Amino acid sequence: MKTYLTGIKPTGMVHLGNLLGAIRPAIDFSNNEDAAQFIYFIADYHAMTASRDPKEFHENVYSIAATWIALGLDTKKSIFYKQSDVKEIFELQWLLSCMTPKGDMNRAHSYKDKVQKNADEKRDTDYGVNMGLYSYPILMAADILMYDTNFVPVGKDQKQHVEIARSIAQRINEYFGEGTLIEPQEVLQENGAYIAGLDGRKMSKSYDNTIPLFVPEKKLRKLIMKIKTDSQPPEAPKDPNDSLIMDLYKLFANDEQVKSLTEWYQRGIGWGEAKQELFLAVNDYISKPRDEYNRLMDDKAYLDEVLRDGANRAREIATTTMDRVRKNMTGF
Ligand code: TRP
Repeated sequence: MKTYLTGIKPTGMVHLGNLLGAIRPAIDFSNNEDAAQFIYFIADYHAMTASRDPKEFHENVYSIAATWIALGLDTKKSIFYKQSDVKEIFELQWLLSCMTPKGDMNRAHSYKDKVQKNADEKRDTDYGVNMGLYSYPILMAADILMYDTNFVPVGKDQKQHVEIARSIAQRINEYFGEGTLIEPQEVLQENGAYIAGLDGRKMSKSYDNTIPLFVPEKKLRKLIMKIKTDSQPPEAPKDPNDSLIMDLYKLFANDEQVKSLTEWYQRGIGWGEAKQELFLAVNDYISKPRDEYNRLMDDKAYLDEVLRDGANRAREIATTTMDRVRKNMTGF
């Protein structure tokens, strides 16, 4: 049986781009595929490289957990836990660190970008870099290698990290014996459909153009009304193939609804009306999970229980892996 694993960094409320680009495909994939093991975890300690607010951190972890469960992740079928509950990860991270050339970390994108930015701004190149950020890829390698992961579904930005994990595993196998670690492979998520945000650029927190998933209905409507449009008069026929509103609508509405909105575009639709239709479709899709999300956020005891159960199952694998790795690497 092949193992798929991916980590989700808790960084505040999930937005529509995350939902359509990553979460919905991941949940569908795991719920519909019986011949593989799926491990989805909250990479909470990865977020510590930048978190300085325990309250916010704590809330963000629950928010991610509640989001995935509300959207239908089957937490019995997959293994769903938070990284910091699996202490073995940090033991493995040390062993991996001792087998990772420092130069590989110098070349890791996120660190290199930071150094470049500091250089551009004529600061000390390591300004604002902590060791957590520097060795981030090694913690990620521990996440992956701990479960004998075969496939790691990730976006393009994480490809290098998976390559680093693979190269660490290869080096360790060379020194300490084949089979000490399984060499993982990245599965690049193309999700070609790039999800545009309110201003037409890719929906992303860093552009401040997102539609957060579980905001109250009123707020959702207000945000959708902010989508950038041109100044064509309401009665002018509009091109359904060149419309942000329509692109988003297609991701939430059924064929019949899409057909009828397309016809309305061709007859002439006011942008306000088009946005209202989009709001109705998104809201329809989101309203049940939103209720469930809110219910779960008020029931942290339940979330704790789900995460604890996931961590127990994860640790069963982790302790077995560590026994093997420790034995091969240290003789103990
Ligand atoms: N670094 C990933 C991100 O920022 C999150 C992550 C942590 C991860 N550990 C992982 C992803 C292991 C895949 C596998 O999105």
